[in-house]
Amino acid sequence: MKIAIGSDHAAYHLRKTIIQHLESKGQQVNDFGTHSTESTHYPVYAQMVARAVVSKEAEFGILICGTGVGIGISANKVPGVRCAIVSDTYSSRMARAHNNANILAFGARVVGPGLACDIVDTWLAEEFQGGRHQTRVDLITQIESGKDISDQA
Ligand code: RB5
Repeated sequence: MKIAIGSDHAAYHLRKTIIQHLESKGQQVNDFGTHSTESTHYPVYAQMVARAVVSKEAEFGILICGTGVGIGISANKVPGVRCAIVSDTYSSRMARAHNNANILAFGARVVGPGLACDIVDTWLAEEFQGGRHQTRVDLITQIESGKDISDQA
């Protein structure tokens, strides 16, 4: 499985931990940086990872900033991305099972390294359930393409 990963300076160290964790499990990781703890701008890394996922260069993406919020919001601006911002394993599991999230975001100032690794593992191990959840994911895609879905209420 190919996984794209990126973070800003706030999550530089946690990103390194996650990369090491994934590689130790035999995952192929494409690291988009940032490459130091010098202050930088999280949307840049969000866009790089989002593009890698949407273009299918990577199957999944992982984004980390201080809170996970800024980098997650940024990723969700790229059409085709379903980025879930989570800080617990229940949400990361459901983000795959129900929302078919193709990118996971979390905050290095919110979760510690142990929980962060569990959040990632839980998300990667889960399968999308499809069925009624596919219908809802399709509605998300329709919102993205500017369609009025109010008739689906
Ligand atoms: C950087 O200080 C911080 O704002 C950023 O990492 C992130 O938390 C934004 O959402």
